[in-house]
Amino acid sequence: MVSLKGKDILHGNQFSKRDIDIIIKVSNGFEKELKKKDSLTLLKGKILATLFFEPSTRTRLSFETAMQRLGGGVICMGAVESSSVAKGETLSDTARTVAQYADVIVVRHPRVGSAKEAADAVDIPVINAGDGAGQHPTQALLDLYTIRKELGSLKNLKIALVGDLKNGRTVHALVEVLSHFGVHFYFVAPSLLRMPEEITERMKGKGCEVIETDDLVMAASKSDLVYMTRIQKERFSDLSEYEKVKGSYIIDREFLDRLKKKITILHPLPRVDEINPDVDSYPGAAYFRQMRNGVFVRMALLAMVLGKK
Ligand code: NCD
Repeated sequence: MVSLKGKDILHGNQFSKRDIDIIIKVSNGFEKELKKKDSLTLLKGKILATLFFEPSTRTRLSFETAMQRLGGGVICMGAVESSSVAKGETLSDTARTVAQYADVIVVRHPRVGSAKEAADAVDIPVINAGDGAGQHPTQALLDLYTIRKELGSLKNLKIALVGDLKNGRTVHALVEVLSHFGVHFYFVAPSLLRMPEEITERMKGKGCEVIETDDLVMAASKSDLVYMTRIQKERFSDLSEYEKVKGSYIIDREFLDRLKKKITILHPLPRVDEINPDVDSYPGAAYFRQMRNGVFVRMALLAMVLGKK
């Protein structure tokens, strides 16, 4: 992919290393520009539509912020109950409708493959903001941007991904974008929530070292960065299974102090109990900076798919 113009953003594996380098560069440019001014005019006259069929705080608001900082406008479908979805309209028809009003669509939906379904129905770019337990590529790019900023480089890193690796779309997408950088992964999960085998095998095939374990102490003590995730309660059909694994991994200040070295902690948020609030003042706790980076990276992606970068 030489240019993102007119393209959909659906999956972490669609980006080459060169694409990622360009996205980082453009994001960085916007971060610098926003230090000088509150808003730009690059996307003046363009409209973003957000279609969220699942809860969201950061993803939707940072996309809307990104569009407005670029001078564009935003339309938002709002609660599912107040739209024609409540009358049984299909996702494809909703997307076709919205494509008459907007220049780019951001969609979040509980079904794996839903963003592709919406993208296939329309000619304007569709951005996947989370399709069930599938992918969340824009989160992956903002995570990667954050890792590079916090650690200075993406080369030869040891990264522990912790928690619900089975259902977590953020980790499914993140490993794809990190796979270009020779990362050494620790996949830390209880056996019920292991990373899907197909993803683990693909990472190994791409030359990444992967160690699967349920031992967080071991993995954290060997890693430069720990990426915590929430156990995705809404993906369990049997809540008694959730009860078995909830609270599997919790890090607190005492845990970090025992490691005797500073590590970086990321989390896509929201957190439930997996990061104790006493970690927030730890110097390596980067999850609040991480969510701010979402604005710069989403500005870059919007500008690029609309052909302005
Ligand atoms: C994540 C998501 O929705 O997948 N949140 C986010 O986009 N920042 C993670 C989660 O809900 O656990």
